Amino acid sequence: MYTASEKRYEKMIYNRCGKSGLKLPAVSLGLWHNFGDTGVYENMRQICFTAFDNGITHFDLANNYGPDPGSAEKNFGKILREDLGRYRDELIISTKAGYDMWEGPYGNWGSRKYLIASLDQSLERLGLDYVDIFYHHRMDPETPLEETMGALAQIVASGKALYVGLSNYDGPTLEKAAAILDDLHCPFIINQNRYSIFDRTIENNGLKETSAELGKGIIAFSPLAQGLLTNRYLNGIPEDSRIRTDGRFLHADNLTEEKLQQIRKLNGIAAGRGQTLAEMALSWILKDGIVTSVLVGASRPSQIIDNVKAIQNIEFSEEELKKIDEI
Ligand SMILES: NC(=O)c1ccc[n+]([C@@H]2O[C@H](COP(=O)([O-])OP(=O)(O)OC[C@H]3O[C@@H](n4cnc5c(N)ncnc54)[C@H](OP(=O)(O)O)[C@@H]3O)[C@@H](O)[C@H]2O)c1
Repeated sequence: MYTASEKRYEKMIYNRCGKSGLKLPAVSLGLWHNFGDTGVYENMRQICFTAFDNGITHFDLANNYGPDPGSAEKNFGKILREDLGRYRDELIISTKAGYDMWEGPYGNWGSRKYLIASLDQSLERLGLDYVDIFYHHRMDPETPLEETMGALAQIVASGKALYVGLSNYDGPTLEKAAAILDDLHCPFIINQNRYSIFDRTIENNGLKETSAELGKGIIAFSPLAQGLLTNRYLNGIPEDSRIRTDGRFLHADNLTEEKLQQIRKLNGIAAGRGQTLAEMALSWILKDGIVTSVLVGASRPSQIIDNVKAIQNIEFSEEELKKIDEI
């Protein structure tokens, strides 16, 4: 039986999520990869324990994480039941719905029918009465925003989620959604979007600015560009890397010669700062105090230990920032 380290709150920084009452660790753990039924259960346990022992209190899931879809929630539910559950009140557990989950017209996008049924299924797999944050996973071009936001508000009112979030929204849609959720007195506190040195979309689609203006938190997913912004691929493609072991979302084609050159140059800047490339990539996101938390993935416990070191140096000189932008 796992017992958490007594030192777990000594090093982590907890940032307030926008203007809400909730604080999140500067580094959170996502279970998109390595927690499905193709993963090794003992490795999943050790990743979670290392995370919690290092102050990572936030674990992020979605209905469809696997493979197979649902299996990450099922496996994390087992870890909760057998080990971590006794620390439930020290944990922030999130899940989402918005992508294709089951057959027919009610298992995808943003209808009230889908969101409410999906969360019930997630709670069952996780073995929980409520999640801390429930997200709508992506914008739905067809369902009226009022319906999707109404479903989120109803979910909170029913006690099945404490807070809600939006994922993969842009600035203008976020602003409209926030106004509806405000009218419904729904505690919408956070946006989850892709953000990294390589992907600046939220700086260009209004999400980062609008979120800060509205006092909402941001949690940055794939902050390491799925492993590209680490030392993983500096000398070829390792057999145990995501490109080789999974291949669903990161392919050898993504590692072009140009990308590799960029990675090598960034690695040089990181070394100059006394950081690994992974540490620098995470520090870079946290540097201006707008992003609440970086949401990393990990295939082994040692990566967590490396990643939490990022919070030790989030200051960048103007020259370093300029060089990173140029690369
Ligand atoms: N809302 C959304 O639409 C959405 C979409 C995607 C992700 N997410 C969330 O964001 C989370 C993180 O996404 P991600 O897994 O793509 O994040 P990531 O942190 O960019 O990539 C994680 C991968 O990078 C490698 N890695 C991590 N730390 C390392 C280190 N210190 N040194 C060397 N390699 C390291 C590992 O790859 P190897 O396997 O090669 O070791 C690991 O699996 C997901 O789990 C999910 O919760 C949300």
